[in-house]
Amino acid sequence: MINIKLIENILQEILVETVSKLYGKENAEKLFIQETNNPTFGDYQTNYAMINAKVFKKNPRLIAQEIVDNLEKNDVIEKVEIAGPGFINIFLKKSFIENYVLSTGKEKIDFNRDISGDIVIDYSSPNIAKPMHIGHLRSTVIGDAIKRIYTFVGYNVIGDNHLGDWGTQFGKLIVAYERWLDKENYEKNPINELERIYVEFEKKSAENPELLDIARAELKKLQDGDEKNRKLWKEFIDVSMSEYNKIYDRMYIKFDTYYGESFYHDKMGKIIELLKEKNIAEKDQGALVVKFPEESHIPVALVQKSDGAFLYTTSDLACIDFRRKKYNVDRLIYVTDDRQQLHFKQVFAITDMLGWDVKKEHVYFGLMRFADGVFSTRKGNVIKLQDLLDRAKEKVLDILKERNPNDENIDEKAEIIAIGAVKYGDLSQNRTSEVIFDWNKTLSFNANSSVYLQYTYARIQSIFRKANIDKLSNNLSLTTEAEEKLAKTLIKFPEAVLRAADAYKPNLLTDYLFDLAQTFNSFYSSTPILKSTDIELNSRLILCEKTAHILKEGLNLLGIKVLNEM
Ligand code: ARG
Repeated sequence: MINIKLIENILQEILVETVSKLYGKENAEKLFIQETNNPTFGDYQTNYAMINAKVFKKNPRLIAQEIVDNLEKNDVIEKVEIAGPGFINIFLKKSFIENYVLSTGKEKIDFNRDISGDIVIDYSSPNIAKPMHIGHLRSTVIGDAIKRIYTFVGYNVIGDNHLGDWGTQFGKLIVAYERWLDKENYEKNPINELERIYVEFEKKSAENPELLDIARAELKKLQDGDEKNRKLWKEFIDVSMSEYNKIYDRMYIKFDTYYGESFYHDKMGKIIELLKEKNIAEKDQGALVVKFPEESHIPVALVQKSDGAFLYTTSDLACIDFRRKKYNVDRLIYVTDDRQQLHFKQVFAITDMLGWDVKKEHVYFGLMRFADGVFSTRKGNVIKLQDLLDRAKEKVLDILKERNPNDENIDEKAEIIAIGAVKYGDLSQNRTSEVIFDWNKTLSFNANSSVYLQYTYARIQSIFRKANIDKLSNNLSLTTEAEEKLAKTLIKFPEAVLRAADAYKPNLLTDYLFDLAQTFNSFYSSTPILKSTDIELNSRLILCEKTAHILKEGLNLLGIKVLNEM
């Protein structure tokens, strides 16, 4: 298969050649091409002349002029203009745009990234015996999208569900299980029952603190390998996992590995030894702590308590050590809410002190709130994922029934639309800010929603059903302004994907897809498609086909399915 390059990179190569000739190879390295945000400035531009004015001790407009005058003839650039303090604005040739559109979906995209190292992404990671809440929804959905996007860019990505399957909750659960379990409830809805008895434990132990000692003893027994407690622990994991898997299946989420916290429990001792050996950790009132340089402003991290117990930090260090040895790691990505920022700062800083050479990224997100009062009686964070998905589906069913009461596939459709809407409602917002979940917008047929994108996709499928043509010829000729605008939007898909990848922000991709759908729909309303003939008909259908292709591919990168009919 041939690879198609990003347009930015194609232009970069052309300009680098000119610049190398003029100013030498070493001065061509800092040449970057950007999309413009206003078509009067061309399609792309570079600020090379401006950032090099000081280096060359020349007026930037003069540098720009020299570059423009020496540009070799090529098949890509129609014209260049010098603007403002020294921007070079680049206008693409129509034939180049046409060919680029034609190659969409046929050729693999070369994103020009070094993809030789693996990426491990740590996401979802719920805590065993507790229902998944909205925070885990965000981690799951954002993590899955980032995984898909990086895979598309070409990386080998390993998705790890770092389950919270080890910790003090198990001692308490074992005590509660033996005393207060309602068998019938447990069979019907195990996680709910485990949650109930856990709350029961908290209540009872507040009155009777002796229970805490008993729980501690049970935890110790579990950690020492007591057979009965291990069996119970295993059971808690199994019943929880089978509940989580129902949700993952429903949301088409797949992980490659499930190394939970328990996997690292016998690997933490070695980390402590290493930290001591390298004088990174020091004793502090019986405990072991790591102190950071003052200018880093990172508070002290506890890595071992005075009773010998390890901590969350210790476990994440053991986890990084494991990953860097097991994989050919290029980078580690963690997706959690923003309350864990300090935790990861500390862990990453210690990793650097240990001299472990891995890139690390904490991809954090804000809280999610609900705008329409549906869930307002309860705090956002305790909303169960299952309830949210069910609620979304009910709402979609109502809308679909109203639109088409006789639709036979209504249930299946409603499920796909609802899952898409919940994911998109999350992914389309800037992940670092607080998210307000607004049902009206989320389920709207004409706002920035997955419903609108799915609807646009289905509309194109219906055009093809009506067109009744088996094969389009590989012939595209752009004549109207609306066609050209749509074509210019289509060719920017790879760059939008890369922007989303580099910033770990799926909303940069949703913004692009929304823009594409809007551009398509204005093309659709201004341009006769099925009423046109010959090359016009062929060209317009090609634009339809490519739009549908990118909508489908783009939604797939967000973990959202399309429908042929809505
Ligand atoms: N289980 C944790 C929680 O629910 C998230 C774990 C994130 N991953 C990690 N390697 N620390 O808050």
